Amino acid sequence: MARMSDETTPYDRMGGAEFFEALVRHFYEGVASDPVLRPMYPEGDLEPAERRLRLFLTQYWGGPTTYSDERGHPRLRMRHNPYVIDDDARDRWLDHMRAALDQTMAEQELDPSWEQELWRYLVGAAIAMVNAAPVGSPTESAAGLTLNQETQ
Ligand code: HEM
Repeated sequence: MARMSDETTPYDRMGGAEFFEALVRHFYEGVASDPVLRPMYPEGDLEPAERRLRLFLTQYWGGPTTYSDERGHPRLRMRHNPYVIDDDARDRWLDHMRAALDQTMAEQELDPSWEQELWRYLVGAAIAMVNAAPVGSPTESAAGLTLNQETQ
């Protein structure tokens, strides 16, 4: 199918496949050495998870819809239910993503307004993915109830 035109989607404006490939690759380099996050990934190999996150972000920002062709509706909050995601896990996820974004921007051009929009989205999405609070904390019973909107 012919594309409507180039440079029309946020995905294209951010740098397309090259940008998202680098961002997610750098992110998983960080996850690979994280003692809390690494054990959460069920597969020994992080590559399939890397591919899913890359395809999801690609689709979210207007690129090819391979993610949903393969996985259906994202339902990200539901898909994260098997994993205990507390504030610490959220912060670690965001720290690796921030470092990955900085590293990617050192290698490729990214308009500051897109950087800001992307980062704001990632922070909001990570906050929405929290589904657990530390045992005994005042917010323990509220975790998962208050921020349960879908994030795609
Ligand atoms: C807040 C901390 C987060 C943690 C600890 C976390 C952890 C995980 C884990 C362990 C998996 C399973 C590996 C896999 O099957 O791919 C996963 C899957 C996934 N995560 Fe996260 N995640 C977090 C936040 C996010 C955010 C903010 C997004 C999107 C912006 C995201 C997008 C995805 C996607 C697309 C998948 C694959 C879903 C599927 O199709 O099965 N995650 N995540």
